Amino acid sequence: MEQKQQHKMHTMKKKVLGFKIASNRSRLAFGILLAFFILMNFWMLSRIQDSGPVKGLKLRFLKSNSSTVSLPEELRKISKGKKPHKTAYARLLYKAAHALAENQYKSIEPKDLWLEPYHAVAASWQPCSDQRVWKPSEGNNGYIMVTANGGINQQRVAVCNIVAVARLLNATLVIPSFMFSSVWRDISQFGDIYQEDYFIDYMKPDIRIVKELPKQLKSLDLEAIGSVVTDVDIAKEAKPSFYLKYILPLLMKNRVVHFVGFGNRLASDPIPYHLQRLRCRCNFHALQFTPKIQATAALLIQRMRQNASHSGLLDENLVGSFAKSKGKIKKDFRYLGLHLRFEIDMVAHSLCDFGGGEEERKELEAYREIHFPGLTELKNTTKSPSPERLKADGLCPLMPEETVLMLAGLGFKRETRIFLAGAQIYGGKSRLKALTTLFPNMVTKENLLSSSEIQPFLNFSSQLAALDFITCTASDVFAMTDSGSQLSSLVSGYRVYYGGGKMPTIRPNKRRLADIFLKNNTIEWKMFETRIRKAVRQNKRVFARPVGRSVYRYPRCSECMCNTQEATLHIRPR
Ligand SMILES: *[C@@H]1O[C@H](CO)[C@@H](O)[C@H](O)[C@H]1NC(C)=O
Ligand SMILES: *[C@@H]1O[C@H](CO)[C@@H](O)[C@H](O)[C@H]1NC(C)=O
Ligand SMILES: *[C@@H]1O[C@H](CO)[C@@H](O)[C@H](O)[C@H]1NC(C)=O
Ligand SMILES: *[C@@H]1O[C@H](CO)[C@@H](O)[C@H](O)[C@H]1NC(C)=O
Ligand SMILES: *[C@@H]1O[C@H](CO)[C@@H](O)[C@H](O)[C@H]1NC(C)=O
Repeated sequence: MEQKQQHKMHTMKKKVLGFKIASNRSRLAFGILLAFFILMNFWMLSRIQDSGPVKGLKLRFLKSNSSTVSLPEELRKISKGKKPHKTAYARLLYKAAHALAENQYKSIEPKDLWLEPYHAVAASWQPCSDQRVWKPSEGNNGYIMVTANGGINQQRVAVCNIVAVARLLNATLVIPSFMFSSVWRDISQFGDIYQEDYFIDYMKPDIRIVKELPKQLKSLDLEAIGSVVTDVDIAKEAKPSFYLKYILPLLMKNRVVHFVGFGNRLASDPIPYHLQRLRCRCNFHALQFTPKIQATAALLIQRMRQNASHSGLLDENLVGSFAKSKGKIKKDFRYLGLHLRFEIDMVAHSLCDFGGGEEERKELEAYREIHFPGLTELKNTTKSPSPERLKADGLCPLMPEETVLMLAGLGFKRETRIFLAGAQIYGGKSRLKALTTLFPNMVTKENLLSSSEIQPFLNFSSQLAALDFITCTASDVFAMTDSGSQLSSLVSGYRVYYGGGKMPTIRPNKRRLADIFLKNNTIEWKMFETRIRKAVRQNKRVFARPVGRSVYRYPRCSECMCNTQEATLHIRPR
């Protein structure tokens, strides 16, 4: 009996997958697959490796009144370093430093630097995924368990996707588990990160959630009865019809199905309207961080705002009762959240050149051989695109030097307070030198918290990442360097949902930026500024969620947000 079931599941898996490849074709297919990864702009990678903790990264925290006279001097030192990458953009950086030093004595910043240029259009979209029009599902068809893999942000997506699947199948959900990964080395479970009871109560009108499986089901050997469903069994972005056709019968038969992994396993489209809304409701309303995380994140926000007496627009959504009373944040208390996605995994995977010469090439090649052997093979066997080509196509992560140039070009003042999120920057402290020199008020959570404050988080990379998530989301302006990153994506979606058009996000179009940076030798600073500003402004246009894109990243769609204004611009990104 059990064997038959297993056999059925096996056949089903084969059918579903469709892409089980005969071995003689596997090589070609593998190559195509890998090329696809590159073209997907590191989508794959950003799922594997999400933002982690900043380890061992201690930045100098200079006073905002530190001398500017020595600036060009410091830059000259940077460019004299023996590593070739230190000279990348030396000329532009020098100009940026001058511009910043000059601006320090003027109080002018570009008018809309801290604002959304298309504020009115953006403000017409209001959060409304908390509105329900259905009866609670009784969850009678059985129990769904999930053990989500990846970093905290990937897990968040998995949680809300499984909520939708549980409703679709009229199943009861067991509180999600998080898989221990050798990368993140964090044993944190759902209840260590989110308020479990709040989640269960908030979702009550939608689905039934329990803390554990009933006793009689606990004793089942799920593997043996074929109730364990891994990512190999489900295509990426699987449609609801898949779950109805293959998972529902399994659920009805065995009373329990356990999803293991569950990364990106539910399509963005097509999804029934109210199921899509449920997904948004989960992400934007049901997931509240634990008081431990909220309290410390509130401290971070407060310190970034130099003890301002008021809280920002999103503080209450993020840190609950730890937020201060709402009010207008005065100019002097604003801060910029920056997620610099420039860790070695990203850098190596991109196949780009970061100006580090032979030494860098060898280092990245060695890393690839260990962590992305497929990429090495691809490089060996086929002609991969040149680094120049990749760069021109906007497929290379922004380097710290490019990031600092972008911020300076946009007109941020030298004393701007910057919160830096992200894991270990490739090249370490020295690679950040340009950033810390031009913007000395840049800090990380490690700088802002005392050792006793951060101690309870130290062994929990997911909880540390939650601090980054909150502090970036609450920032007055958020700048990302790679839109494929899950952290950046969720942060910007949250700012769209609750921001009312007042929480700007800087999302560089890397292709256009590459075009501008290419002229690093000839371009004048004024022209550089103009072009950077134009490129970034264009990416701030307001548009409804394009079909197939994530509701967590692009919540402007009628399922998640209600458009209060009929005639809205719907400008699609190119
Ligand atoms: C920018 O121009 C300098 C010459 O001034 C050159 O050495 C450097 O490689 C260029 N940087 C990039 C990233 O193209
Ligand atoms: C779930 O329950 C609803 C309402 O009782 C019903 O209309 C729907 O067909 C059920 N779906 C499944 C998959 O059992
Ligand atoms: C904020 O308050 C703390 C404690 O009250 C104090 O130590 C710190 O210096 C203050 N920071 C600023 C920038 O005022
Ligand atoms: C790729 O080629 C290099 C030398 O060119 C070799 O050392 C390496 O083992 C090769 N890797 C693979 C996966 O074929
Ligand atoms: C973190 O875990 C290691 C062992 O895994 C332990 O030795 C260390 O004391 C822990 N640190 C904290 C701050 O809990």
